[in-house]
Amino acid sequence: MGSFAFLAPMASRPSSPSPAALRRLERAARVAAKAAYARYSKYRVGAAVLTTSGRVFTGCNVENASYGLCNCAERTAIFTAVAAGERSLRAVAIYTPTRTPAAPCGACRQVIREFGPEALIVSVCNSAKRLTTSLPALLPHAFGPEDLA
Ligand code: THU
Repeated sequence: MGSFAFLAPMASRPSSPSPAALRRLERAARVAAKAAYARYSKYRVGAAVLTTSGRVFTGCNVENASYGLCNCAERTAIFTAVAAGERSLRAVAIYTPTRTPAAPCGACRQVIREFGPEALIVSVCNSAKRLTTSLPALLPHAFGPEDLA
């Protein structure tokens, strides 16, 4: 160990996806938005998640006449991944039909925290602008499963 002890915390972190994998994830998020059920807001969002096992799952926002029940694209994608047996997220891509990229809402940040506490978050939109950040940056001092122990 000695002077290399400082490397230890890095070992448990998922490494950053390759640029090619990220482009693929962003494309998947854009395609996913086409299925959005955005009857009330007309704001069609798509999301794609990359699991640490290398699989990609997508989702769109699904709205409801009872507005409070609208489900964001991010959570649709994450719940789909979990329903397929996945438990660990490496990256989340979000597409919004805007000129500037949008970060996930607070509720989605908390859901990402459950399965991807170190996840990379990439937001893309209808311009070349992009936002690249991480879950710890978006939700510092987050409440998580460990807090229940
Ligand atoms: N929405 C998402 O799908 N993801 C976000 O990160 C922000 C908001 C959806 C919810 C709702 O259907 C519409 O966008 C307007 O808020």
